[in-house]
Amino acid sequence: MRLLELARLHIAAILQPGDCVIDGTAGNGHDSLFLAQHIGVEGELYAFDLQEAAIEATRQRLNQAGLGACLRAHCCSHEQIAQHVPSTVRAAMFNLGYLPGGDHRIVTRASSSMRAIESSLGLLVPKGRLTLMVYPAHEGGEEEYRAIEQFLAVLPIRDYIVSRSEAHNGAATAPLLFSIEKSK
Ligand SMILES: C[S@@+](CC[C@H](N)C(=O)[O-])C[C@H]1O[C@@H](n2cnc3c(N)ncnc32)[C@H](O)[C@@H]1O
Repeated sequence: MRLLELARLHIAAILQPGDCVIDGTAGNGHDSLFLAQHIGVEGELYAFDLQEAAIEATRQRLNQAGLGACLRAHCCSHEQIAQHVPSTVRAAMFNLGYLPGGDHRIVTRASSSMRAIESSLGLLVPKGRLTLMVYPAHEGGEEEYRAIEQFLAVLPIRDYIVSRSEAHNGAATAPLLFSIEKSK
């Protein structure tokens, strides 16, 4: 939970009303609501999830908050971000893994997550930020974590600043947060 809060602090610091942003894993819509509260109805929130129920939950959550007008929801894999997001974005958030309380077989995978992350980095404006909550413990989670960690480790530091946060005294498979800022 603390890492999720840290991710939000990192993103909230740069968001302005009217911004365009991505939620790469809409789930129950908590991150989408957070993003919508910062960009307002004049902003554009591109939210992706494989599950229709997740998209519906996200839509309802934003509607209840009076923020539904900013939502551009897509029930498809985040691999398709480049096809559905027509402009640059100030921020992107990914909370990987599966939906708590949902079908654990519907889970993010290394290859599709990597494509989505690469597309989103390409869409970030200068000083734009991307956060990635990664969960190595579930089946396939370690492979996903390794792919992401290796990719981020070799991003040129003149183009992106990548930081990682984790419980130093936690389990080897504990969740971790990557926070990325694009330089130019
Ligand atoms: C940890 S949950 C996201 C929680 C969400 N951000 C929230 O605030 O409630 C992960 C979500 O990723 C979705 N997901 C799994 N694979 C996906 C993919 N390839 N593209 C988009 N969403 C995916 C799952 O359906 C699940 O809803």
